[in-house]
Amino acid sequence: MATQIEIKPISGALGAEIAGVSLADELSNEAFNKVHQAFLDHHVIFFRGQHDLTPEHHKAFGRRFGTLNVHPYVKGMADHPEIMEIIKEPEEKTNFGGGWHTDMSFLEEPALGSILHAIEVPPYGGDTLWANQHMAYETLSDGLKETLSGLTAIHSAKGEYGPKGQSALGRQSMETSAAPDAPEFEHPVVRTHPETGRKALYVNPAFTMRFKGWTRKESRPLLNYLFEHCQREEFTCRFRWEAGSVAFWDNRSTWHFALNDYQGHRRHMRRVTVDGDRPF
Ligand code: SIN
Repeated sequence: MATQIEIKPISGALGAEIAGVSLADELSNEAFNKVHQAFLDHHVIFFRGQHDLTPEHHKAFGRRFGTLNVHPYVKGMADHPEIMEIIKEPEEKTNFGGGWHTDMSFLEEPALGSILHAIEVPPYGGDTLWANQHMAYETLSDGLKETLSGLTAIHSAKGEYGPKGQSALGRQSMETSAAPDAPEFEHPVVRTHPETGRKALYVNPAFTMRFKGWTRKESRPLLNYLFEHCQREEFTCRFRWEAGSVAFWDNRSTWHFALNDYQGHRRHMRRVTVDGDRPF
């Protein structure tokens, strides 16, 4: 008899753990549909005990959702350029992803989702948090929703991945840093999820520079308000990693934050990023 797939929410805002699935096996269409629906319903899903997941399996699971991205600034594995190695060595002080963001919003077609596999975890700390951006949108006043509905924001990697950016600072895992003239792309401030039709806020502190047609100085107060609102505790969940855990999150509807509270210990993760569509 096939193992039952169990889906258990981990917070009131988002996130669910899925039991009864081995990502090292090719999922039947029925199992895949359940996992896909859980991803859309809960925005980030977790699988524990995936010790047998090889880089090939990891990529094959990602490819069921779309094509895979090769990150422009972070090193990939030698034989698997689509798999980023997110490693913090014991002597490194800053971590990768240590601020609220959504992946790759600096691209014209930002990421659909990211699949992170824990290879080695510190003895304590190193949790990741996610925040539900549908809730962030839905809890705004009608007046602010109306103002935001007409706004477009400019996104770029030049801050976060520039030579002085949080993700670049002295990190051994960086391939290169973003040039000062790295491209800028425009995305609507409120995007519609292409699969569910739900609206979500789509700005983030790492990559959103300003509103289109506004100066940086003019944009800052409203962006700061939104950044604070988007990370309200009641919109979040927090995941405690074990070696073999996998998280798969929807970058179209969530932010995430990798906590840097395990100085002196090693943390090693592998990430596959699934390409998405142009936000509308
Ligand atoms: C990331 O931002 O993709 C990294 C998340 C983590 O390492 O927990």
